[in-house]
Amino acid sequence: MVCLGNICRSPLAQGVLEEICTVKNLDWEIDSAGTASWHVGNPPDMRSIKVAQKYGIDIRKQRARQFDQADFRNFDLILAMDQENYNNIMDLALAEEDRKKVHLILNFAYPQQNRAVPDPYYDNSFEQVYNLLKNACQKMVQLYR
Ligand code: 4NP
Repeated sequence: MVCLGNICRSPLAQGVLEEICTVKNLDWEIDSAGTASWHVGNPPDMRSIKVAQKYGIDIRKQRARQFDQADFRNFDLILAMDQENYNNIMDLALAEEDRKKVHLILNFAYPQQNRAVPDPYYDNSFEQVYNLLKNACQKMVQLYR
């Protein structure tokens, strides 16, 4: 799960997918990262922690890190929150095999529409972001489980 700062959207996406995998007994390794380095080492934004908590998900132990090339080797799927994240990830890809792993997460819920998960950092849309992520993660799991 990849966003810009790795403190709002992608930590929530990680928590949502971990919860779905727990319920469905799927042993998947899930992680998140940001394309930017500003918040490296920081816990998620308090507003992401709160909305996760509201739905029974604890993301407090997560710490931000920056996306890097090793992620292409370590993961099968790389899910970007918006087009800017997607482009930044693609710029780091070295091979076609890497590029094939990268998707806009909302294309699992709204195929081929290239919709963005809105950045809630400034507009506080954390509840909307949670709902979008939950829907997209459920659809993605149906495809890959
Ligand atoms: P995120 O949100 O990419 O969903 O983690 C943001 C967090 C921090 C900033 C921007 C977006 N920032 O400008 O510091």
